[in-house]
Amino acid sequence: MLAQLSLFVILCAAGVFVSEATADADALSDGKKSARVCGSCHGPKGIARVESYPSLAGQSAQYLAKQLRAFRDGSRTDPQMSVLAKGLSDAEIVNISAWYASLSSCK
Ligand code: HEC
Repeated sequence: MLAQLSLFVILCAAGVFVSEATADADALSDGKKSARVCGSCHGPKGIARVESYPSLAGQSAQYLAKQLRAFRDGSRTDPQMSVLAKGLSDAEIVNISAWYASLSSCK
């Protein structure tokens, strides 16, 4: 456990965690803009400071988009997220997810 933790810290310090290189720059900047409202809970760079809010930085774009679609269609529910996801278009979901995936998960 401790060894894993120190490996993580070393990799983070060396900046080894790099973004998924699949999303283009326009998509990422659109995603960043659309995600402004999300930062109040998930942190401005996707690292949440409050235990009940998950961090989104560095999670897979595919996973994030799947969760957002699930909140939007009601197959996953949360009093806060269900309301927020209702207003997102397909493009916003893809771009926001790509932006969070591109961020470092290092605190
Ligand atoms: C008012 C606070 C709040 C705001 C604003 C908010 N979220 Fe959330 N979000 C939450 C909470 C709470 C959860 C955890 C829900 C649960 O426990 O199922 C969550 C969960 C998520 C998840 C699932 C994470 C996972 O690991 O499964 C995603 C993705 C997400 N939010 C994206 C967003 C996006 C994108 C926005 C902006 C459009 C946003 N959130 C705005 C509170 C918020």
